[in-house]
Amino acid sequence: MYFVNWQRDISVEERNGRRVVVKRNKATKDFHEFIITYTYSLISFLLAHPSSPTAPSEIMANEGHLMRENLARLGVPTPELIAISDQYLIEEYVEGGDLYRAFVSSGSSELASGAGALTGKMHRAGYAFVDNKAQNYLVKEKSVVRTDLGFTKSSCSEFAKSMDVGSFLASAMDLKSYSEIENRFYKGYIAETGHGFSHLAIVIRNLLSLGFSSDSTIMFQNMILDSRPVLEI
Ligand SMILES: Nc1ncnc2c1ncn2[C@@H]1O[C@H](COP(=O)(O)OP(=O)(O)OP(=O)(O)O)[C@@H](O)[C@H]1O
Ligand SMILES: [Mg+2]
Repeated sequence: MYFVNWQRDISVEERNGRRVVVKRNKATKDFHEFIITYTYSLISFLLAHPSSPTAPSEIMANEGHLMRENLARLGVPTPELIAISDQYLIEEYVEGGDLYRAFVSSGSSELASGAGALTGKMHRAGYAFVDNKAQNYLVKEKSVVRTDLGFTKSSCSEFAKSMDVGSFLASAMDLKSYSEIENRFYKGYIAETGHGFSHLAIVIRNLLSLGFSSDSTIMFQNMILDSRPVLEI
């Protein structure tokens, strides 16, 4: 199996009789990271919440053992890291695939509450994932674990937290089950944090949806739904 991705080439391989995922950096990774960090700063500035992005030097380190141990302490599971270098990363293959595909193939939005709970645990501890798409959650034994940790911030701003909520919701905006996904994500999130989403998260969701969504008709239908029930009061 082989996934072609924006930043890395991702392949499923057999190593020592075990299935693993190998993520090899593309030659253009630095350029892509520059675009992402530049866009992050620009959006934060335009939305009057100037925030500094994750420094490029931190991105690879964030994928390493130390970050995974920190996240495990917060109750945020990640795939087992097998090897890491400047050029590639090898981690445990997680059988269930990513959460976006699970939403599409199972038609069930149940696991969105797990993603909301993990996001809430992060925010309670002052952490944020920043790039919190449903594609960055993997389905393992009927729950979710978190991969793609590069942009994680350990001292996070209101903007970074809103980015987490906004990017998760934006990644599901082209699905017919969006409303149910939003509701379950919210329930998981509020159970950990005791509060709902900021208005800023919904603004970010709408901005990112324009880039993420593969079906603009469904996306615009979802964009005009009433979001008040999930906002903090
Ligand atoms: N450990 C894993 N087990 C199974 N599938 C995985 C695993 N890690 C990644 N994948 C699959 O590969 C996809 C891309 O992985 P990842 O997000 O780590 O790469 P990326 O290059 O950072 O991608 P992007 O820039 O698009 O976010 C995931 O959405 C998932 O479908
Ligand atoms: Mg990813």
